[in-house]
Amino acid sequence: MIIKSAEFVCSNTQISKLPEPTLPEYAFIGRSNVGKSSLINMITSVKGLAKTSQTPGKTQLINHFIINKNWFLVDLPGYGFARVSKSLAEKWEKFIRQYLSKRENLQCVMVLVDSRLEPQKLDLQFIDSLGEMGLPFVVVFTKSDKQSKGKTATNVQLFKNELLKNWEELPDIFITSSEDKTGRDELISFIDQINQQ
Ligand code: GTP
Ligand code: MG
Repeated sequence: MIIKSAEFVCSNTQISKLPEPTLPEYAFIGRSNVGKSSLINMITSVKGLAKTSQTPGKTQLINHFIINKNWFLVDLPGYGFARVSKSLAEKWEKFIRQYLSKRENLQCVMVLVDSRLEPQKLDLQFIDSLGEMGLPFVVVFTKSDKQSKGKTATNVQLFKNELLKNWEELPDIFITSSEDKTGRDELISFIDQINQQ
């Protein structure tokens, strides 16, 4: 698939105001600052389409982007951001959960994980909650340009080991960098394959 167009559709805090669920949708989620917005820009090759920042907590709304006028990419606020108040964090969590459980056109949740870190409890817990909701997901390791391939491979293996404690089968796994475009073709092919079904 060639990405011919990528446009911002809307930002929302209310599930009732999301675009009509008539097109396939892929949501990017993960800890604050993991690189969700950067990955959307990398996939679409549109710099600045999704707003990025060095400061965690940049994305605070559900942002819809329409690709090739026939599928949606969704940029979500990050989880596990310590610097917002507890009540705000709970509000976001509830909102994200509501989105995940109600969005009928959601094809796959793309869970972003920082490839520089050893397995984090929060990511594993989030993945388990997707399992409980029965949602299809893949794991996308980000920022692979920041360390050696060997270090990335070690962290990916440690993560797989953790997943295998709770899951019989491993999900699809992607290794990416928004900096050097590692993993772009693989992610696009994956989405294309689901869109064709
Ligand atoms: P929130 O919206 O705050 O949850 O963050 P986010 O997950 O959308 O992260 P964002 O894309 O804003 O990126 C956070 C920081 O990491 C920015 O300074 C990015 O430039 C940087 N970054 C993201 N992806 C990569 C990557 O693949 N490589 C490198 N070197 N830096 C990256
Ligand atoms: Mg963001």
